[in-house]
Amino acid sequence: MDNNLLIINAHIVTPVGSGARKGKEMNELLNIPCGTVEVTDGIITYAGPNRKGKLPEGYKVLNAENQILLPGFVDSHTHLVFGGYRPEEFIWRMRGDSYMSIMERGGGIVNTMKATREASFHELKEKAEKYIHAMSRMGVTTVEGKSGYGLDKETELKQLKVMAAINRNPNRKVEIASTFLGAHALPPEYKDREERYIDFLIDEMLPYIRENNLAENCDVFCEKGVFTVEQSRRLLSAAKEMGYGIKIHADEIVSFGGTELAAELHALSADHLLHVSDEGIRRMAENNVVATLLPLTAFTLREPYARGREMIDAGCAVALATDLNPGSCFSGSIPLTFALACIYMHFSVEEAITALTLNGAAAINRAESIGSIEVGKKGDFALLGSDTYSMLPYYTGMNSVQCTIKEGRILEN
Ligand code: NIG
Ligand code: FE
Repeated sequence: MDNNLLIINAHIVTPVGSGARKGKEMNELLNIPCGTVEVTDGIITYAGPNRKGKLPEGYKVLNAENQILLPGFVDSHTHLVFGGYRPEEFIWRMRGDSYMSIMERGGGIVNTMKATREASFHELKEKAEKYIHAMSRMGVTTVEGKSGYGLDKETELKQLKVMAAINRNPNRKVEIASTFLGAHALPPEYKDREERYIDFLIDEMLPYIRENNLAENCDVFCEKGVFTVEQSRRLLSAAKEMGYGIKIHADEIVSFGGTELAAELHALSADHLLHVSDEGIRRMAENNVVATLLPLTAFTLREPYARGREMIDAGCAVALATDLNPGSCFSGSIPLTFALACIYMHFSVEEAITALTLNGAAAINRAESIGSIEVGKKGDFALLGSDTYSMLPYYTGMNSVQCTIKEGRILEN
């Protein structure tokens, strides 16, 4: 009964399908002005116009008159489990230091690595849950979470186990799709031994994590001064062979070839893409790699936004995500993501909705079970407080979501 819900009189707005929407398709949303959604045991069993006759028994009823019902948002790129904070680095950046210069002098990811190694499992879990509650209030029902702040076996596993523990709660507000990002930076113990570190990830970490079901995807920070294209190819090819979904932090700081590698390996997604080449854009479209754009990161790093408009026009499937992390982007704001995408990246509101729902789901290989309001998918929704979805970017940086529904459970906002 807890997961049986009838939402009636809603204005249902959703992309349709069980895969990413590409190019022009991103603009196509199904609109049902006076609709009903029936959720039985957490799964959608009806979605369509209001039905005549008596309401079925055994369901909680939610009257959503004059309100927009969207699929729950999928934030497909975050680093939500971490120790400590880095406010001093933020201040240095505001004074003109670059993200990479801070990393080169021992700050950045390695700074958070130290704090994450020191933090207890419970500290990390409590902190991650705090972000998850904030995300839930903004309509997020699924989030991708990366490891990558341990850079040793014990701490990488600690991060992944925190995510698994949060998922095990039957009343979870947000479900986490976990990604192993051991190749986020070179740990100090492996100084000048990059290839040995990649060997360690391939030989010790990937098989263990797979056997213990602790991560679905594998990611790498493929960037000048971090991991080369060749090292990334070696790691990701091994991961793919073991059954991981593949993701790449690509072309974030300079144009480096990570996007082309994502296309070559048929990765689920290439992420960031602030400096992607024209060839990279063409090859993502051709090879069905989701282009995951993170406008909050460009905003906080004072970098130009990714060429999202061009990517959509070139036929790519584009997803939007927050990149929540303690360094380059300490924000998980869905409202601001909508605003930046529409105001500065020239997305239509419809395209931004597709990017934060079905295409986000595709970027974590879950488009068959979430990301749209269709029979057979999970009963995950964001209910807006208004009857127009233009509110999402228009009410700039403010929350338009009145309530979030996770697998048929109405959550407090
Ligand atoms: O997605 N670029 C690499 N990784 C993160 C930043 C991590 C950090 O600074 O702690 C990103 O921007
Ligand atoms: Fe990231």
